[in-house]
Amino acid sequence: MADVDPLHAADLVTAPTRRSVLQGAAGVVLAWLTPVPAFAQAAPTGRPAAGDVLVKVGDAAATPLTAADVAPGAAPVMAWPMHPDEKVPRSGSRLNRIALVRLDPAALAERTRPRAADGIVAYSAICTHTGCEVGAFLADEQVLYCECHQSKFDPRDDARVTDGPAPRNLPALPLRIVDGRLVVAAPFTARPGFAEGV
Ligand code: FES
Repeated sequence: MADVDPLHAADLVTAPTRRSVLQGAAGVVLAWLTPVPAFAQAAPTGRPAAGDVLVKVGDAAATPLTAADVAPGAAPVMAWPMHPDEKVPRSGSRLNRIALVRLDPAALAERTRPRAADGIVAYSAICTHTGCEVGAFLADEQVLYCECHQSKFDPRDDARVTDGPAPRNLPALPLRIVDGRLVVAAPFTARPGFAEGV
């Protein structure tokens, strides 16, 4: 099947500008949502590959993230993969957007543990329901949360759906740590996206 990216154009128009990190009484922690930077117009669209580093969304300096950049219990860090020899993230496709969270390594399910790096797990940030960004973390429930239609995903266990209309897990992106940097260990475990068959 062709590798389509049905949301890319729409993302450039509808992405929120900037929203503060919130940590309310309900324990909802939201990621910074930033506009797609100018370099996205010519950015690579290829899917993340083993050896890629990760760069925080909105970081014009494209500085590779380290494990220390992902705090336990905090809002998801939204990131793009980037070839280690390049200076431009793979932000040409919205489907490459990744959510990083740091969890208790002892709480990780057997299938998720080998994909984690020091408790940090990475998943596609594109909801499998209708493609909104999964940008919140409900600290009380320890789940990633899509605000559009309230789908919840358990990042400790393969981002399986625990509530809401999402039809499937968020694809995982296996990680490792090399010289302190977060590095992609293997491609997405499934195709990122939301439409049937995508
Ligand atoms: S788009 Fe995420 S729950 Fe509908």
